[in-house]
Amino acid sequence: MILKTGFINVSLAVGLGCTVFVLGACTKKTPELRSQPNIELIQDMMDQPSLKAQDAEPSDPQKGSSRLPPEGSVPVGYTPYKYAGNAADAAANLKNPFAGNTKAEILELGRRKYEIYCAVCHGYTGAGDGPVAPKMALKPPPVTSDKIRTMNDGGIYHIITDGQGVMSSYAYQMVKDEDRWAIVNYIRSLQKLAAGGSTADKAEIEKAAKSGSY
Ligand code: HEC
Repeated sequence: MILKTGFINVSLAVGLGCTVFVLGACTKKTPELRSQPNIELIQDMMDQPSLKAQDAEPSDPQKGSSRLPPEGSVPVGYTPYKYAGNAADAAANLKNPFAGNTKAEILELGRRKYEIYCAVCHGYTGAGDGPVAPKMALKPPPVTSDKIRTMNDGGIYHIITDGQGVMSSYAYQMVKDEDRWAIVNYIRSLQKLAAGGSTADKAEIEKAAKSGSY
């Protein structure tokens, strides 16, 4: 009987001790303690055999934990570009669904996308003088040149989609076709402005800029 009571007392004491310890750990965190890692009572959740994203692969540290998708796999909703590497056929066959459309919504979409993805190199007015241009060995050409002015819409769409020389493709940044065609239309507006631009041309772009939320 005495032994039993003693046993109960000991376990109560241990139990109470733990509670005080745990509560203490919760409540008495000074700033120094907060900067230290948590105490892990049960470690299974923290230490797992699975690799974390960006980890090295232990069996081959040169390889990362992330794997490349199997060859030939494509993202959901992706349509392969059938004129890859074939600028001439693209220019001959692709038709701009917004050809000649200067509605504010289209120009504003084009302006937003152009200013996000292209202006950094080709410049906000298309003159090839974007903020990173001075640092580039091969300068980005102006998109207001005679070459691009006389290139048809399909040709410009092709450069956005497939890249050209050292300029890489922007197909992944702009999965939607309409974004790329809207840029083509916006480049046409920049070309009109670069060539002097009538008051109507300027008004068109200003109206588009005002209609945007960006
Ligand atoms: C990182 C800088 C950079 C960005 C961003 C960029 N380009 Fe380019 N672009 C270049 C360079 C450099 C060339 C010349 C490539 C070559 O011919 O080797 C070029 C070429 C072009 C040409 C052909 C010009 C010519 O005279 O042959 C067009 C059109 C063009 N880019 C449009 C765009 C559009 C539209 C975007 C946005 C979707 C864009 N670029 C984004 C650097 C860039």
